[in-house]
Amino acid sequence: MVMLTARRYFSDEGGVDPEAECAFFSSLRMRNGTFKLTRPSRFAAVEEGIRPIIRERAGSIRQVLDVGTSSGLTTVELADFLQAEGGSPRVIGTDLFIEAHLVEVSPRLHVLADDEGWPLQYELASRPLRAWIRRLDYFTLTFVPLLVGRAVLRSRLYRKIAEGRSIPVRMQCRALADRNIRLVENDILVATPEFTGQFDLVRAANILNLGYFRTGQIRTAIANILSYCRGPGSLLLVVRTHGQHHHGSLFELQERGQVAVRMRIGEGSEIESLILGHTAYGGRRR
Ligand SMILES: C[S@@+](CC[C@H](N)C(=O)[O-])C[C@H]1O[C@@H](n2cnc3c(N)ncnc32)[C@H](O)[C@@H]1O
Repeated sequence: MVMLTARRYFSDEGGVDPEAECAFFSSLRMRNGTFKLTRPSRFAAVEEGIRPIIRERAGSIRQVLDVGTSSGLTTVELADFLQAEGGSPRVIGTDLFIEAHLVEVSPRLHVLADDEGWPLQYELASRPLRAWIRRLDYFTLTFVPLLVGRAVLRSRLYRKIAEGRSIPVRMQCRALADRNIRLVENDILVATPEFTGQFDLVRAANILNLGYFRTGQIRTAIANILSYCRGPGSLLLVVRTHGQHHHGSLFELQERGQVAVRMRIGEGSEIESLILGHTAYGGRRR
């Protein structure tokens, strides 16, 4: 499959093949080291597993938060799944990186960068080039031009963006068009008062990974997420994908703010013990 350039993806008004769209987003590495990696129908097996519990509760799931939504594709699929089970919730997807910019550096060099000028993809002579460094690059010395390129370009990109000499874009999938799903920039490590006590179901898929964050940061994210739950009965799905397999846990808030495991997928969430050690803020009642 030919990788899309950012300019092509964001300018193409017509349809884009969902696989090509996912490959494009999945190739983007953010400045905090996380990838926008996602895939269509990624959670079909997970949804199958939690279906009986969701079916039982669909009517009372009014607000849903999907943390680390990436392009929003799996958020759309989550909304479809909940609807198919009889729910009609308001769905919000959050991600630390949604806003980005297309910047022309020269007629042959265009860059997709985040709002701080961090390069996410280069387009050199109409060909896409990854902006991040992989392990192999240290053996082939490809890391040198990548490091130098980033160091040289970053302040220039930042300046152009600050001066309005860029095209702002939103890193969100086409499937969100015409959908009543809101994608907002939000850092799960920073408490967001307007989310407090709002959500009946929170999903954190492939974000609260021990490989991405330190334990202390994961504890902070858990505290924030639990504070966003409406109260006893709220559900929290934490899942991590390894190849074709998912390992996750579905938690439910209890009367006094404690958290209990309702079910496990695969081997369960790797951060289950961290979540069970928390108490939701205030132990609010519904
Ligand atoms: C691997 S993707 C997961 C996408 C989707 N949930 C899935 O499983 O297909 C991880 C996402 O988390 C986002 N992310 C990274 N750090 C974050 C943070 N501190 N707060 C919110 N989102 C963050 C990244 O931008 C990326 O889009």
